[in-house]
Amino acid sequence: MAVTGIVLVLFLVAHMLGNLKVFAGQTSFDHYAHWLREIGTPVLPGVWFLWILRTGLLVSVVAHIAAATALARRARAARPVRYAHRKKVRGSYAARTMRWGGVIILLFVIYHLLDLTAGTLNPVGDPSRPYANVVADFAPSRWYVTLFYTLAVVSVGFHLRHGLFSALRSLGQQTPHGERRARMVALLFSVALCAGYLVVPFAVLTGLVD
Ligand code: HEM
Repeated sequence: MAVTGIVLVLFLVAHMLGNLKVFAGQTSFDHYAHWLREIGTPVLPGVWFLWILRTGLLVSVVAHIAAATALARRARAARPVRYAHRKKVRGSYAARTMRWGGVIILLFVIYHLLDLTAGTLNPVGDPSRPYANVVADFAPSRWYVTLFYTLAVVSVGFHLRHGLFSALRSLGQQTPHGERRARMVALLFSVALCAGYLVVPFAVLTGLVD
């Protein structure tokens, strides 16, 4: 869970920072997207590096889900006879929604790929003009797309907050003081990541980026 989680967090940070290039203008953003497709050339042909990255991401997502399933099975097998009466487990909202939060994020990513990578669901839908795709996507008349992205990004934030907290605790932050520190770091990191993502659709919605 931890290794694949780290790979996915690194992707989330890099993707969020890349998206902020939208504030540098159309030429800069499109140039950046074009560069992403050319990393590694001429040593590697064409979009090879991008496909290596995509394969790494896909493998991480599949392994992350497989590890979560295996852990859940192991937890259930440890108590083959269910509790007759189970006290309500206390825990943060983020902790209790890991499984369904993960499913929502997966569904969002499928929609997102059809929207901004393939362009099938985007009003412009031209993979060679990512800036135009983003601006068309979050136009004020399509406020519901911004709303949907907001819910998805907040789900990512909740998922990340608990995932990061668990990872930090496993890495040694197990004293009450360490747990408090891990909780704070996870919260601040997740809020910063959510804000970094959401500033883009809201900038388009409010006309700051057009
Ligand atoms: C408001 C938030 C977001 C914006 C504005 C955004 C924007 C974009 C854009 C413009 C692309 C296409 C890049 C290109 O074709 O050059 C893209 C691709 C992608 N995004 Fe996002 N994104 C957002 C949030 C997310 C989140 C939260 C995730 C993951 C949970 C995510 C995962 C991906 C993936 C996997 C790709 C495909 C990368 C590839 O293989 O080409 N995005 N995004």
